[in-house]
Amino acid sequence: MSESYILGIESSCDETAAAVVGDGEHLLSNVVSSQIATHQPYGGVVPELASREHLRAIVPVVRQALAEAGKTYESIDAIAVTQGPGLAGALLVGISYAKALAFALEKPLITVNHLEGHIHAVLLEEKQKGNFQIDFPLLALVVSGGHTHLFLAEEREHGWTYTNIGRTRDDAAGEAYDKVAKLLGLGYPGGPVIDALALHGNPKAVKFVPSQIKHGNRGTPKAEQTPHDFSFSGIKTAVLRYVELEGMRESITVRQQALAGISKPTSADILALCDKKTLDLVASFQRAVVQDLVAKTLQAAKEGNARTLFVTGGVAANRELRETFAKEAAKAGLPVYFPSRKLSTDNAAMIAAAAFPKLRARDFAGADFSAEASLALR
Ligand code: KG4
Ligand code: ZN
Repeated sequence: MSESYILGIESSCDETAAAVVGDGEHLLSNVVSSQIATHQPYGGVVPELASREHLRAIVPVVRQALAEAGKTYESIDAIAVTQGPGLAGALLVGISYAKALAFALEKPLITVNHLEGHIHAVLLEEKQKGNFQIDFPLLALVVSGGHTHLFLAEEREHGWTYTNIGRTRDDAAGEAYDKVAKLLGLGYPGGPVIDALALHGNPKAVKFVPSQIKHGNRGTPKAEQTPHDFSFSGIKTAVLRYVELEGMRESITVRQQALAGISKPTSADILALCDKKTLDLVASFQRAVVQDLVAKTLQAAKEGNARTLFVTGGVAANRELRETFAKEAAKAGLPVYFPSRKLSTDNAAMIAAAAFPKLRARDFAGADFSAEASLALR
């Protein structure tokens, strides 16, 4: 059978992306147009601006993805698009364009859950490396700016099925990175900056109490609880309290003003504006978040008898998270896989890859589906 090429389209948050993948394992192109510069002044994603930027970028991004893959619109076998979860207005741009393209070209259209996409980014790259031996059940930690989820996956005849056994009760881990970076005047997005600065601080300088999740009682309604929940709003508040107690406000304002005068600050520029206290705080924050993610994930893997671990999503790009997972999973005798940094953050290659089993099963979308901001993965 000849290879099938899927054009993937992703617009769930602040990246407009398109990619062409052959048979779920050959990455022909992967184009990502980032809106970081648009949202930077606000310290977070502004939904209305995201939709507007997607509208501007979608046509050229798709055209570039096809050109880089050496494909024409006609030579594509199917079009895959992210249906959710994400920002409704942002998702709609990708969905409307994908529907129009599929209709005009008379090609099948496949909808993909963004979280399944992040999981399939790992599979795509493992297959590219020649690793086709993935044992199930598989536990996937999807950790990004919008999500912190644990999914136990099983392989079925027509693709994978998922059980959500963990999620955050408040902020996502990446959101905590972004909020702490904003609070400390380090710019946006916070993850990459904190990752780079943490190398220069003492991770044991500030003690953060690990989040204690009480299951089966007050607070979160029972139906919304999973056995391995996370919480990251407490640590954000603890950082704020530390800043107040240690009188760090003034130095933060000085840093913010200095950074505002640099057009594209590098992590070296930001490092030069940080004192030891800030670097120690950043390193301690990262250590606490990483330890919490790793400990809870490994506990869930043990209880779920997982035989493989996937760690994916924007925060999976984190150096310390990768190192700690690699070390601790090895101790537990569990193989752990991450996407490359390029495929950790949002992209469309993961959407095209996740759509491949659906193409095989001829699981196509009708014309009447819409964006689902809180689409669940099952
Ligand atoms: O997957 P992604 O691109 O978008 C969402 O689906 O949310 O993830 C973006 C998030 C941001 O919160 C960003 O700060 C975080 O991933 N991030 C990181 C790193 N690189 C990106 N967090 C920690 N360390 C990093 N190196
Ligand atoms: Zn994502």
